[in-house]
Amino acid sequence: DSGSDTGSGKSGGGDDKITLGFSQVGAESGWRTANTKSIQESAASSGIDLKFSDAQGKQENQIKAIRNFITQRVDVIAFSPVVESGWGTVLKEAKDANIPVILTDRAIDDPDTSLYKTFIGSDFVEEGKKAGDWLVKEYEGKSDPVNIVELQGSPGAAPANDRKSGFADVIKADTKFKVIASQTGQFTRTDGKAVMETFLKSQPDIDVLYAHNDDMGLGAIEAIEAAGKKPGTDIKIITVDAVKDGMTALADGKINFIVECSPLLGPQLMELVKKAKAGESIPQRVLTKETTFTPEQAKEALPSRKY
Ligand code: AHR
Repeated sequence: DSGSDTGSGKSGGGDDKITLGFSQVGAESGWRTANTKSIQESAASSGIDLKFSDAQGKQENQIKAIRNFITQRVDVIAFSPVVESGWGTVLKEAKDANIPVILTDRAIDDPDTSLYKTFIGSDFVEEGKKAGDWLVKEYEGKSDPVNIVELQGSPGAAPANDRKSGFADVIKADTKFKVIASQTGQFTRTDGKAVMETFLKSQPDIDVLYAHNDDMGLGAIEAIEAAGKKPGTDIKIITVDAVKDGMTALADGKINFIVECSPLLGPQLMELVKKAKAGESIPQRVLTKETTFTPEQAKEALPSRKY
């Protein structure tokens, strides 16, 4: 199965409409749903013919989708890589077919940067650092050990690798911080809950949960409450994303701090697609603007939060 494809109109040549082939990771999180919506709406309002393919979390589906886009001769290919490694061969095929590629949201680890025109998205290492910085401040002046459990994103994905390393880099400066358990929760609510249940059973003394996205944090909150503990108080919680459900839990005091990662990449992506098609030069890296949220800031931001 190569995932579900939707798209309309003919591809490549013949009419003036730009055709964009986009391969999405899947629908694992609230962030991803908002990202897909942003891309679909921006394509429609920019008059770009979008061929959208959902990889259902599998790299092999993305590779197939990209090969289909090449066969159909779309004008531009964009994708959000499920994992960082293993893209050289298929991107070389796109390059040989003269189809520009735009990495969206997530990076790849191939050293050959000529395989893609640009990479638009967040700095995930920075996000991990922001999570660590908050923790360091929160426990400033205290010397007791701080036991941390970590819910990682899907294995091999750039945001999982980078949010882990950015966080680790900051907290290693003080030996009181100890990551006592760290496992993947696949960026989903279901797995976040299940893994937190096992953490709670095996670790009698958890002070902090660091979850690589809101959805896993929200699942973990259910597990913490079911174990008779108070999320946000008995166990402090840091997450990444700032989707509406996460922000609501933050405003309610069940999450203590959220590092924002913006899913609204659609408008900027369509601008880059037009430039790539026109052969104009575009920057190698386009960074997304992001902030962080405390409970008070979440209360303020919630009424106008779109996703
Ligand atoms: O690549 C971005 C990450 O993927 C988001 O933080 C997470 O929620 C999503 O699944």
